[in-house]
Amino acid sequence: MGSIHISAKVGEIADTILLPGDPMRAKHVAENLLQDAVCFNQVRGMLGFTGFYNGKKVSIMGSGMGMGSTAIYVNELIETYGVKQLIRVGTCGAIKTELEVGQVILAMSASGDSGANRSYFGGLHYAATADFDLLLKAYSAAQRLGIDTKQGSIFSTNTFYDDDPQRWDKWEQHGILGVEMESQILFTLAKRLKAKALAILTVSDNIRTGASASSQEREQSYMDMMRIGFELA
Ligand code: HPA
Repeated sequence: MGSIHISAKVGEIADTILLPGDPMRAKHVAENLLQDAVCFNQVRGMLGFTGFYNGKKVSIMGSGMGMGSTAIYVNELIETYGVKQLIRVGTCGAIKTELEVGQVILAMSASGDSGANRSYFGGLHYAATADFDLLLKAYSAAQRLGIDTKQGSIFSTNTFYDDDPQRWDKWEQHGILGVEMESQILFTLAKRLKAKALAILTVSDNIRTGASASSQEREQSYMDMMRIGFELA
């Protein structure tokens, strides 16, 4: 028996899972970087695969976009399948002018506008933080692989489209490197449910300068990010 949104049998999902937003990216990465990858979920098209990376069992599955979708899968992966390490691998829009497209970021913390995160804490603000052990391991793996990373804070939003041009000024002033849509709730839920979480992000566009990655640059840096993630299995 699976969970409500995942049809895998218990045991078919590894202790470590990578979570890109896009399920087709999960499929692409499973087909190109994993050995003996087997699809464990097709419910709602949210494809998930388990295979082997350097002989270690590891899974990869789409999370969907936004914290609502991510929260559903994170809950079920930990509670039903006993997943112990959840690593978001995705993109972010840089709000720091100097950040170049293709830059890999290891997120130490995620500020954000998740209503779920706020209501759970009675309106107070929980500081959603990555697991230090995973962060350190990812940093070491990146150094070994010769991949440059920046460590810092990010912002998770539920609104991709917004009218306010000054929206990110104060966040940039407070050290936020980039904006994405999933990590805040991932970090909070993982802590609550006693699992470890990290987010590895690549800058896909710079919100300040308007720069955006070519599809070739995207592919290269996405695969770099996946390799760091798989090293954590
Ligand atoms: N906003 C939110 N999420 C994103 C963006 C953005 O500009 N770019 C990539 N993910």
